[in-house]
Amino acid sequence: MRIAVIGVNQGLGLALSRLAAAKGHDVYAAYRNKPSAKAAEAAKEFSNYKLIELDVTCEAMAETAAGKIETDGGKLDALVIVAGILADSDRTRLITEASIDDLRAALEVNVIGSAIVIKHFHHLIKDGGMFIMITSEAGSMTNIGTKYPGYSVSKAAQNKLTAIFAKTESRYTVCAVHPGRMNTVMGRNDAQIEPEESAEGIYKIITGEKKTPGGNTWFIDYRGGEMEI
Ligand SMILES: NC(=O)c1ccc[n+]([C@@H]2O[C@H](COP(=O)([O-])OP(=O)(O)OC[C@H]3O[C@@H](n4cnc5c(N)ncnc54)[C@H](OP(=O)(O)O)[C@@H]3O)[C@@H](O)[C@H]2O)c1
Repeated sequence: MRIAVIGVNQGLGLALSRLAAAKGHDVYAAYRNKPSAKAAEAAKEFSNYKLIELDVTCEAMAETAAGKIETDGGKLDALVIVAGILADSDRTRLITEASIDDLRAALEVNVIGSAIVIKHFHHLIKDGGMFIMITSEAGSMTNIGTKYPGYSVSKAAQNKLTAIFAKTESRYTVCAVHPGRMNTVMGRNDAQIEPEESAEGIYKIITGEKKTPGGNTWFIDYRGGEMEI
């Protein structure tokens, strides 16, 4: 398979891109700014691990990255957008105390960045392929708490973006995936699993080993179970 993972410098993106490469798939691994030491190490270890620069907030960069993948051999079996941010201020503040700059940044990366990638990559996915947007349980409109307010607003918008895209594109499966509470730089405070466990589940969804519910269900977790919208 040919799989693109967007946001591979650390955390889930690194774990998923490494796993897919180790299983022998051609992986396009998009990093922000500069490949991390671990992403660079993966590119050395696996000849099928191809690094591509992409800051999701930059439309010109997305266009160039998509063009490179197309030139390199055409269509993708799967595209996974993992890139995301959670501001430190959002870990402790209520919405009434929010840093508006940090809220804007969350929307810029998590929502606008994802829309940019959809716009420039959607045509690259094969008929019958798969698009996965890594969102979060924090984006649920029914399961509402007060923690991580700015991040949660951005993840709700990212869920809606995915739902609209799912209605727009019928050639392949489109879903939003809650990856679990992972022990990463972002998830360290509430972690329940390692990112490798989440990557394993998402990998099975990509390869079809784990079936998605299908129909109108577009929001699932990393084990393929339906999530509360
Ligand atoms: N951790 C959790 O418990 C948890 C729970 C629910 C949902 N999620 C979601 O799962 C995804 C992965 O989270 P994680 O825990 O692996 O986070 P992480 O360890 O903080 O990694 C985030 C990744 O996103 C990349 N990124 C940030 N801004 C970017 C940009 N503008 N362009 C391209 N890449 C960018 C980062 O690159 P740099 O390192 O270069 O900044 C990094 O590789 C996120 O979408 C997150 O919201 C996580």
